[in-house]
Amino acid sequence: MKRIGILTSGGDASGMNAAIRSIARSAISAGLEAYGINYGFAGLVAGNIRQLESKDMDGIIDRGGTILYSARFPEFAEEKTQLKGIEQLKKFGIDALVVIGGDGSYHGAERLTQHGFNSIGVPGTIDNDIPGTDFTVGFDTAVNVALDALDRINDTATSHQRTFVVEVMGRGAGDIALWAGNAADADAIVIPEREYDIKEIAEHLKRNYENGKDHGLIVLAEGVMSAADFKEQLDQYGDFDSRAITLGHVQRGGRPTAKDRVLASMFGDYAVRLLLEGKGGLAIGIRDNKLVATDIIDTLENHKHITDVSLLDLNDRLRF
Ligand code: F6P
Repeated sequence: MKRIGILTSGGDASGMNAAIRSIARSAISAGLEAYGINYGFAGLVAGNIRQLESKDMDGIIDRGGTILYSARFPEFAEEKTQLKGIEQLKKFGIDALVVIGGDGSYHGAERLTQHGFNSIGVPGTIDNDIPGTDFTVGFDTAVNVALDALDRINDTATSHQRTFVVEVMGRGAGDIALWAGNAADADAIVIPEREYDIKEIAEHLKRNYENGKDHGLIVLAEGVMSAADFKEQLDQYGDFDSRAITLGHVQRGGRPTAKDRVLASMFGDYAVRLLLEGKGGLAIGIRDNKLVATDIIDTLENHKHITDVSLLDLNDRLRF
């Protein structure tokens, strides 16, 4: 093996640059060449590929976004597009590909593996919803961005004795809501993985106000409904002087936390070491604090991300 390709795909996540740096530098220090593919699978099919030098990796570990750019490219679900991608990889003499991304990107890597092209997935998404790993690159940063916003909202909510419904990202997973909500002392965390009862939440908030609490905070995962819709329903059960806020893409940017930088560095380096051992067709992850690599096809076809819903019970036990 001589050349490793790297691409980032799907929704970006802070820490992707740290993963790119790790893969490229680990490859270069082992005597291999690293090639960056711009614009995810769309750029792969278009042949938008360039060699990466170690010096290109200088000063990127602390930058959000991805120097390789990203794209959502549903066309890659078609076999003829996948084969075009493999043609480009062969044209550039690339022997193996490391894909950094979320669920959709993993499926791209899975398809290439099924066509016999050695691909490895590194989990990079703020949603933390990839099977085969406890944590994804970008999740910790997103949680901390959301938490910073929630702390600020708690300040103004308290001054005005208001109730805020704050929608955080996480298309189908409540992980960001659970971690940020617990850390921000939320009155309720509403996630797609667990039934909820708006009337019960309203009763809880009312009791809180009666008992002297001066504000309310509901952290809502976007996969449930919009903050505006939730607020509208909540208002039917009480006079809360409520406000609805959607944090949105702010959670996807900014300086990655130390945890995301180190996790990304560990994942990237591990991917290269596995390729050097002649392994591939794998999904990288961390489980119980240990690096793991599982068969990418089996991981995607037979496993699901499991959200730690015990965090919901924890919040319920500790809330006011
Ligand atoms: O990358 C994950 C994610 O941020 C989800 O949390 C969110 O639902 C989605 O991407 C938004 O996608 P887009 O940036 O394409 O609007």
